[in-house]
Amino acid sequence: MEEKALKPVGVVGSGVMGHGIAMTLAKYGFQTVMYDISEDLLKRAMENISSGRFGLQKLVDKGSITASDRTEIMGRIRTTTSLRDLAGCSLVIEAAPENRDLKGKIFSELDSLCDRETILASNTSGIMISDLASFTKRGDRFVGMHWFNPPQVMKLVEVVRGPETAQRTLDFINDLSRKLEKMPVVVNDAPGFFTTRFINAWLMEAYRIFEQGVAGIAEIDEMSRLAFGFPMGPFELSDLIGLDTMLHVADYMFDETKNPSYSPPTTLKKLVLSGYLGKKTGSKGGWYDYYSVQGKDR
Ligand SMILES: NC(=O)c1ccc[n+]([C@@H]2O[C@H](COP(=O)([O-])OP(=O)(O)OC[C@H]3O[C@@H](n4cnc5c(N)ncnc54)[C@H](O)[C@@H]3O)[C@@H](O)[C@H]2O)c1
Repeated sequence: MEEKALKPVGVVGSGVMGHGIAMTLAKYGFQTVMYDISEDLLKRAMENISSGRFGLQKLVDKGSITASDRTEIMGRIRTTTSLRDLAGCSLVIEAAPENRDLKGKIFSELDSLCDRETILASNTSGIMISDLASFTKRGDRFVGMHWFNPPQVMKLVEVVRGPETAQRTLDFINDLSRKLEKMPVVVNDAPGFFTTRFINAWLMEAYRIFEQGVAGIAEIDEMSRLAFGFPMGPFELSDLIGLDTMLHVADYMFDETKNPSYSPPTTLKKLVLSGYLGKKTGSKGGWYDYYSVQGKDR
């Protein structure tokens, strides 16, 4: 276990989740290799790690780390556009877009490139771990490691056990999560696991309530905060998660279960098709931007 922990950890994808996961690993002393499909994306991810909303500079400003800690943490992250560079990692955490075929292709490549002992983990929001593991020949060393947004802040790691996942793989992920000051909770495999199944039904219902004209998005968010004590309402949360991710998850959950509570409403599809993906797209920031541009709701 200790020997493994000394090897680097790989992260595939440097977007909303990938860069936050890489930053967290490096902050807690792990050598980290972050992969993406272009140098530009990696450069933007490193800028986010350095000075983004949840980046290291914010921690320096708050006094929780020093400027030299910041340099040291940045120095633990290596970036690459070649999957081969992840071959010697103890663990590779995949945080590529929520698309089964894309993830399958990545895992099949990683399976042939990586050391026999490397553990492969997916940060998928809801695709069944048994399905993703089937692209590899290492079901015993395959696991769901579901982080929450922003990964630098959120405490829960939902650890998803596939039918073949070995206990030593779960032990490794639980141990690593605790070293990162996270709280791992192990669940069994199912579409959406616990957290996504639960949140997806709530979000889709909020979208439908809005579509039916019962209340505006700002009002629904405010009521959710004031009535239920949620830190964020459904529309603020969706803009943070990314509407494309929400749509992929909802489509998948509905396809797998045929439960109409999970089916994505038309407005969500319309926003995604028009490029209103959420905070990650800046000017087209999601529900709030779309409806302020349209002069409705707010
Ligand atoms: N956003 C959230 O709040 C959240 C929370 C938990 C889990 N997740 C899950 O994490 C995963 C990543 O989500 P995200 O929000 O970071 O998405 P994102 O769109 O912000 O980032 C995805 C990254 O993957 C890269 N990518 C594209 N094609 C690739 C390929 N072929 N190989 C490797 N990388 C590729 C993209 O360039 C991008 O940097 C998804 O499975 C998502 O469901 C997201």
